[in-house]
Amino acid sequence: MRIDILTIFPEMFSALDSGVLGKALQRECLTVNVINIRDYSTDKHKRTDDYPFGGGLGMVMTVQPIYDCINAIDPNHNAKRIYMSPRGRTFSHEISLELSKEEWLILLCGSYEGIDERIIELCIDEEMSIGDYVLTGGELAAMVIVNAVSRHIDGVLGSKDSDLDESFSTGLLEYPQYTRPAEYMGLAVPEVLLNGNHAKINEWRQNMSEQITKERRPDLYKLYKETK
Ligand code: ADE
Repeated sequence: MRIDILTIFPEMFSALDSGVLGKALQRECLTVNVINIRDYSTDKHKRTDDYPFGGGLGMVMTVQPIYDCINAIDPNHNAKRIYMSPRGRTFSHEISLELSKEEWLILLCGSYEGIDERIIELCIDEEMSIGDYVLTGGELAAMVIVNAVSRHIDGVLGSKDSDLDESFSTGLLEYPQYTRPAEYMGLAVPEVLLNGNHAKINEWRQNMSEQITKERRPDLYKLYKETK
């Protein structure tokens, strides 16, 4: 899979080089290109924003650099083009699976008060939100999408199983995990996890997952029970 991120803050994406995702990028399980929209500005000062028509606070990102940037990298519109925006469809586990099936994603990050609406009309397939709050730009949202989507791509995680077992894949939240030492500050690891009886361990984990989901996310629990 290829993901192109269009931004005026490319330096923010150095965070992608760390951890599991960083290793996956090195192994070339997926390719992430971070593209600076400013490089496409024809303005003599390389500006990418201007005052809003009609007045109001803040600046609006102009059409030209973004339009030229998108058309330079995807002239035949082969990629699925997503604009990160609180107005969009709310990202979820299901959407992360859906997007992981795409061959090529373009994630456009807006800043300031947003982007000229005509970019959305001319170039964008879908707007995507990561939740009901407003960020100062789409960059963190794009990183969330890259991270969650890439977990479904073969070779990114250590084994495919670790994806299947996680919260939301099963419809339940994850059971508690422990590692050594077996006791810390008077708190002991549940006995069942220490005796090597895998049937019992699976039963305990399933029960804990159900209990935690029922307490914390009754909405998910109801759905789980209905579809089981
Ligand atoms: N840009 C600003 N806020 C956002 C949000 N909640 N989701 C996606 N992109 C955004």
